Amino acid sequence: MPGGVRCLRDTDSKKLATRDGASRGRGEICLADEFILETQGLTKEFAGFFAVRDVSLKVRRGHIHALIGPNGAGKTTCFNLLTKFLKPSAGTILYKGQDITSMAPADVARLGLVRSFQISAVFPHMTALENVRVALQRQHGSSFDFWRSKTVLNRFNPKAMELLNDVGLSEFANTPAVEMPYGRKRALEIATTLALDPEMMLLDEPMAGMGHEDIEKIATLIKRISAKYTILMVEHNLSVVANLSDVITVLTRGQVLAQGDYSELSKDERVKEAYLGAGHA
Ligand SMILES: Nc1ncnc2c1ncn2[C@@H]1O[C@H](COP(=O)(O)OP(=O)(O)O)[C@@H](O)[C@H]1O
Ligand SMILES: [Mg+2]
Repeated sequence: MPGGVRCLRDTDSKKLATRDGASRGRGEICLADEFILETQGLTKEFAGFFAVRDVSLKVRRGHIHALIGPNGAGKTTCFNLLTKFLKPSAGTILYKGQDITSMAPADVARLGLVRSFQISAVFPHMTALENVRVALQRQHGSSFDFWRSKTVLNRFNPKAMELLNDVGLSEFANTPAVEMPYGRKRALEIATTLALDPEMMLLDEPMAGMGHEDIEKIATLIKRISAKYTILMVEHNLSVVANLSDVITVLTRGQVLAQGDYSELSKDERVKEAYLGAGHA
């Protein structure tokens, strides 16, 4: 392990309750558990152009980690590499210490690294409850089988209701997804992702296309679920990033420009310049 044995302060470990309820000894975390996701020299080249170059990221377990940067910085490409939608030209991706660089997306999801809004499709004419139930059913090994008996399906109802409750959607349980307001649909997508029992969630612009009210709701939701999950998100809305993130990595021209918390980065001249230079105030 690089860095040798190291202990974290108790304050750093407060978010470490894992999904199976296991918790670490007071004030101590095994180093192997400290960073849930790590990239080393991650690179993606498109015909001689480096969209992502030599990116080394470390995402601390339990954190909300944001990936930001001006347009064309390589955020989406980086995200697609992490979610296995793209194959890196060079570099490695480690998840819980395991090399997942060449692993298929479905296998990565099974390890608990899940991308929201992609793997979890929402069926518009199913109710919120039915949508979450289908996701749970899938997670528990039964493939899409809409002809299963009601009794079998109803087995998943309590868990589905619990997940809807977690994302603040109890009152929408019997509402078809298509009739739900946009922000609530996003919350439903998060619920169907949570049904896959992830340890880490990758969110691609969770606030995209949302109005002010929805942004606040989803931000609160993300904050709430982050008590149980590690979150890496690409997000354009800097006030959301400021409010939610424990750590922010700034990308420009495919490379890591800076990393830190919001107050550090907002004072960083290089970061300001990168945004201004690209026409983003
Ligand atoms: N499939 C592709 N082929 C060629 N160039 C690409 C491809 N995808 C992205 N790029 C280029 O890589 C750079 C980074 O893109 P992207 O990751 O989408 O940036 P961001 O999401 O930060 O705006 C851009 O210059 C873009 O044009
Ligand atoms: Mg993008």
